[in-house]
Parts: sequence; C-alpha cells; structure tokens
Amino acid sequence: MKALILAGGYGTRLRPLSCTKPKLLFPIANKPLLEWVLERLSGVGVSTVVLAVNYRADMIRSFCGDEKYGLKILYSQEKTPLGTGGPIKLAEKVLSLEEGEKLLILNGDIFSNVNFDELKKVHDEQVSRWGAVLTLTLFEVEDPRRYGVVETNQDGKVLKFIEKPEQKEGVSKNINAGVYLTDQRIFGYLKEGRHSIEREVFPVLAEQGLLFGYKHTGLWMDIGKIEDYMAANFKVLEQTAKNQPKIGENVELASNVKIIPPTIIGSNTKIGEGSRIGPYTVIGENVSIGKSCRIRESVLFSGITVESGSAVTSSIVGDNVSMGENVRIGKGSVIGEGVTIANNVKLASKVFVCPYKEVNFSVLRSKHIM
Ligand code: GDD
Ligand code: MG
Repeated sequence: MKALILAGGYGTRLRPLSCTKPKLLFPIANKPLLEWVLERLSGVGVSTVVLAVNYRADMIRSFCGDEKYGLKILYSQEKTPLGTGGPIKLAEKVLSLEEGEKLLILNGDIFSNVNFDELKKVHDEQVSRWGAVLTLTLFEVEDPRRYGVVETNQDGKVLKFIEKPEQKEGVSKNINAGVYLTDQRIFGYLKEGRHSIEREVFPVLAEQGLLFGYKHTGLWMDIGKIEDYMAANFKVLEQTAKNQPKIGENVELASNVKIIPPTIIGSNTKIGEGSRIGPYTVIGENVSIGKSCRIRESVLFSGITVESGSAVTSSIVGDNVSMGENVRIGKGSVIGEGVTIANNVKLASKVFVCPYKEVNFSVLRSKHIM
C-alpha cells in the first residue's frame, strides 16, 4: 500500500500563523501534525508516502527529507495550487501504483486515530461485493456545514455526497473525514489541472454506485481553524499530561514556579521565579519565561521570550516572538512569528498580529494588526 498526503493548502483560516508555517507543520503538543500522521502510517503496511506539496513546500521538504519512521518519502510538487483533485492526478506518476496496489489518500490537516486496518477490511469487502472504487472514512459531527456531507444506505453505499451544504437541516451528520482508500482506478475519474475531488468526483462515483463509507468513531479533528487547532492540543494534554505535567529535557524551573496540569513544557525551556503555568498549556522548546509570569490555556511555539510580569490567556503565540515586561495578551489572540511586543503593552481579546510586526501600543478591542 502507498499513501498520498494532500499537503499544499494555504491554511487561510489559521492566519497569521500560517503566513510563515504550513498547517501540516503546526505543533500539536510540541510535535508537528505531519509527524503524528507519519508515525501512524508506519506499521500499517504503507511503504511509500507521497506528499503533494505546493505552499511552503521547502519547509515540508526540509522537515521530512526522504525517509521518516521507516517510510520512504517522495514529493509531488505543483506549480500552482490544484485544489484537492488536481494534486492526486499530478502524483499518478510519482506514485506508480502496481496493478491491485492500494492507495490511501489523506487530507493532511486531520488529527485522528482512524483505524487503517479496519478501513482496509471494509474497503476490500466492498470491492469484492460491489466493485467499489473508493471508500471514504466517515465521522459524525453536530454541524456538518463546514464539511462534505455523506448519505449512505444500509450496505454502506454512498447515495449522495454534498460538499459544504448551506443548511444543516435535513442533511446527514456523517461527514467526509478526509481519509480515503482506493487504487489506480481513481485516476480515471480525475482530470489534469485544478479541481475538487469532493465537488467533481465523489458525486459521480456516488451516482455510479462505486463510492462507499466506513464509519470511524474515535478521535477526529480538522485543525484547519484556530479553535480546532487549540482543541487538538487540549485533547493531547488531557491524554498525556492530565495528572502530572510533562516536562522536557534540560528544563530549568526557578523557585516557586507552579505548573498546573495538564501542561507540557518543551526541552531547554527556562521559567523564572514565581511564575504560574497552566492548566491547558503547551510551551515549546527554547522558550524563556521571566519572573512572575502567568500563562494559561495557551499554546506557545518555540524560541519565544516572555519577560517578567507578563500574562498570556487562551491565546496562541508563534515562533520566536519577543514579549517585554508586564505585557498582557487577552483571550483568543494569535501572535504571528517573530513579533516584538514592547513593555507594558496590553492586547485585549482577539487581537491578531501579523508576523514580524513591532507592537509598541496597547490595543483595547479585537483587531488585526497588519
Ligand atoms: N497539494 C495541495 N494543493 N493540497 C491542497 C490544496 C492544493 O491546492 N488545497 C487544499 N489542499 C490540502 C489541504 O492542505 C488539506 O490538507 C486538504 O487538502 C483539504 O483541504 P482543506 O482546505 O483543509 O479542505 P476542508 O477542510 O475545507 O474540506 C475538506 O476536508 C473536510 C474534512 O476536514 C473536504 O475534503 C471535506 O469534504 C471534508 O469533510
Ligand atoms: Mg481542512
């Protein structure tokens, strides 16, 4: 079996953090999403992974190289973004599937524990029974409007596929989880150039009775939105650091530092006297936090400096941000990579700061600083 990961989206809903980092490299509990995905793919019978890259391809290439977790990594590079269908067609040659070889296709922004063995079992059954071309993993959500909605019959055959319906009333709550199993026959349904597999291919396959569903009930999140990216971090915090904080190597904690779980602290980070960190907080590597700081329900990337007396609440802070003394970052704020914030600056809730800005003034209402 080979795998193809769609890794080229702009991540517009994750701006300003995605201006400098592709969403597949966003850290979840200090480990890039792509690493979580590759780790899960090793040991399920996948030999080769092709990454369909476009936006910030250089960063993805230098992160993965040509081998990771025992998987051979190849790249299929688009010149311009080809949507969700075009990149699969473009990767046909690089994948060079053998007759009957299976292809697992993954949306790269999904954090989940989909059982690939179960998916394969269900797909194999549907192939021998109905000649299935592709099996979609399905997941149940409360509001399906942001997703592809899937209606199936009792045999698991997809009767209807509607990408991002306008209303939630009257449509199924089973959505396309972005994990597909198929084989080389799929290339016959895709064209060259930009197009959407969800809007242009799945409805056709459904019409022909060749599209099937496999229901997943475990963990599933699309981290493409700030809230969901935070939720993915919180999920891992609960699973791995609930009763006891998880502290990396070479961390220096001064006296009277209080770490409230669930909290994860990356290696080589220093925390100054009297600071309180957590709950629900992830601090990256090589972060330096001064005295009497207060950081809670937040995700801090790596290489950040926070000087004494500063506080961050329910926010995300990008790599290499530098925060002066007595800074306040209010709920729901997102600070882009390399931003510098001067002493005593207060940012109210939902302030979004673009990468490398210097902020020398307080912002008292929700605002984008570009
Ligand atoms: N290579 C490449 N080129 N990849 C792309 C491009 C492109 O032009 N555009 C998007 N991608 C990648 C994204 O990085 C992501 O991993 C995946 O394709 C899906 O794109 P999204 O932009 O995240 O789509 P979505 O979340 O709105 O909807 C999709 O995912 C839902 C599940 O989260 C659809 O597949 C829905 O049907 C599905 O329910
Ligand atoms: Mg998505």
